[in-house]
Amino acid sequence: MDISKLLHLFAVIIWVGGMFFAYVVLRPSAVEVLQPPERLRLWDKVFSRFFKWVWLAVFLLLASGLYMIHLFGGMAGAPSYVHAMLTLGTVMMLIYAYVYFVAYARLSKLVAAQDWPSAGAVLASIRKLVAVNLALGLLTVAVVMLGRGM
Ligand code: HEM
Repeated sequence: MDISKLLHLFAVIIWVGGMFFAYVVLRPSAVEVLQPPERLRLWDKVFSRFFKWVWLAVFLLLASGLYMIHLFGGMAGAPSYVHAMLTLGTVMMLIYAYVYFVAYARLSKLVAAQDWPSAGAVLASIRKLVAVNLALGLLTVAVVMLGRGM
């Protein structure tokens, strides 16, 4: 359980911590310093690197999480906060899959075509979905820690 829990926590730190930095620190700094074309090129590069780590985090969360549920003797033996975590985690992964396969794929094409107004609109939609996933990620950690009585 310890190694799987450690990998699980590393995955949470990489994904949720990365979203926090991107949304709260990098986004306003980029708006203050860069013009739209540079800003959009920056985010295209940032997402191409960060999303590789998010796929690793999604894999580690599912593998370690489902293994730990197996150690609980399946969902019937798992505490209710684990049920809530699986639900919230699945919603986060579905939102991320949409961001990656639909919005980010569109953003990369528009940046390559230097269509800045359309790329800006797609970036705005990604920003809103990252805000939702950041809130869900922090909520999931709170549900687990409060559910377990910390
Ligand atoms: C969607 C798939 C997921 C599954 C199946 C899953 C399952 C589990 C299980 C079974 C545990 C052990 C609970 C215990 O021993 O009390 C656990 C711990 C934990 N999970 Fe998840 N989880 C998932 C996603 C997430 C996500 C998305 C987050 C946060 C964003 C998260 C945060 C945590 C935390 C903070 C712990 C406590 C680790 C500790 O004991 O220090 N999990 N998870």
